[in-house]
Amino acid sequence: MQAYFRYVKFILQLCKAKMKACESRRDLKENFINCRSATKKIKQTNKKMQSIIQTLIQEIKKKKTLSKLDDKIVETKLNTLLNQNPKTKKLISSEENYEKIKKSKLVKEIIKQTRNDFNIIYGQFQSKEPKHTNKLLEQLKKELNSTNLTEQNILELHNNLLKTHLSTKERIKDQEKIIKEIIVELNKNKTRETDSLNILDLACGFNPFSIPFWLNITKIKKISYTCSDFTKQDQEIIENYFKILSNKYNELKGESIQLDISKPDSENHKIFSKKYDFALIWKTLDLIDHKQAENFINKIDSDLIIISFSTVTVKNRRMNVKKRSWLHKLLRRLNLKYEIKEYSNELFYFIEKK
Ligand SMILES: C[S@@+](CC[C@H](N)C(=O)[O-])C[C@H]1O[C@@H](n2cnc3c(N)ncnc32)[C@H](O)[C@@H]1O
Repeated sequence: MQAYFRYVKFILQLCKAKMKACESRRDLKENFINCRSATKKIKQTNKKMQSIIQTLIQEIKKKKTLSKLDDKIVETKLNTLLNQNPKTKKLISSEENYEKIKKSKLVKEIIKQTRNDFNIIYGQFQSKEPKHTNKLLEQLKKELNSTNLTEQNILELHNNLLKTHLSTKERIKDQEKIIKEIIVELNKNKTRETDSLNILDLACGFNPFSIPFWLNITKIKKISYTCSDFTKQDQEIIENYFKILSNKYNELKGESIQLDISKPDSENHKIFSKKYDFALIWKTLDLIDHKQAENFINKIDSDLIIISFSTVTVKNRRMNVKKRSWLHKLLRRLNLKYEIKEYSNELFYFIEKK
């Protein structure tokens, strides 16, 4: 798209130069008419191309696991890919509408490529029934009002919610052990207030649905949970969840934020100006640039950061090399102490920042 805008700018500059160079009134009039029709043509092409791109975005999002992505996020990725595939871009800008090109191999290819890229960072973790999470939240809302709901019932409902995202589903059986381990690490810090927990969870997915397990295991009621992920719909799901839960647990304070952590400068978002007891960046750093990962480690204000990585491949095979050597090098360079712990399919780095 940027190349296209450069082209438009060039045509406009050319028009301006031509008009300046006109010697007679007649010349001026003729050039004016030519330039006006060139600008009109550019505007029409731009409009048609925009309309085709909007249709392509909806086509890409027809894949259920990608349906919650924001149009704007898909558009940015699509434009990047189109700039790398000039033939496809030319085809799209030269045709009247999507119907005329939808059977083209180039168009099918660009849809496939965009879907594949989003599948790696997003789709593969999503449930094939995205509406299921909202239905379970409705059920939770109703049941939390019932007087005979036990603690065990609440945890069971949350287990169902955790199962709607692959990452949390895989972690369910180890969840209690991981929470206990974090509490042991936290209690090593004697200056910390022990009757409250202040948590930051970056690229959280549906990890906030584990809050009742924290409440149950730690018996701490005062929890502040700040979390982020990159689609508007997921951010709203978590926001809705916090509302539902805070009706039952009035000392719970949840904040859900939409943040694309791959963007340079995202570490300057206001959530990084607060202090936390600990921060979680689980199963996400493989998806972003290492320099950006370093920015987050530096910027997060907490004594403990817990970073995790999957130890199985997308095809569910065990990885031969599970440790991330780039992170070891980085932590050594930053002079930060760390411990590694492994649970079933996940490797955890407990990083001290004191
Ligand atoms: C493997 S899941 C991990 C989810 C959660 N941290 C957990 O471990 O349960 C990866 C998460 O990263 C999020 N993600 C991927 N790229 C992102 C980006 N650029 N900005 C913010 N979140 C991103 C996805 O939406 C997804 O929720």
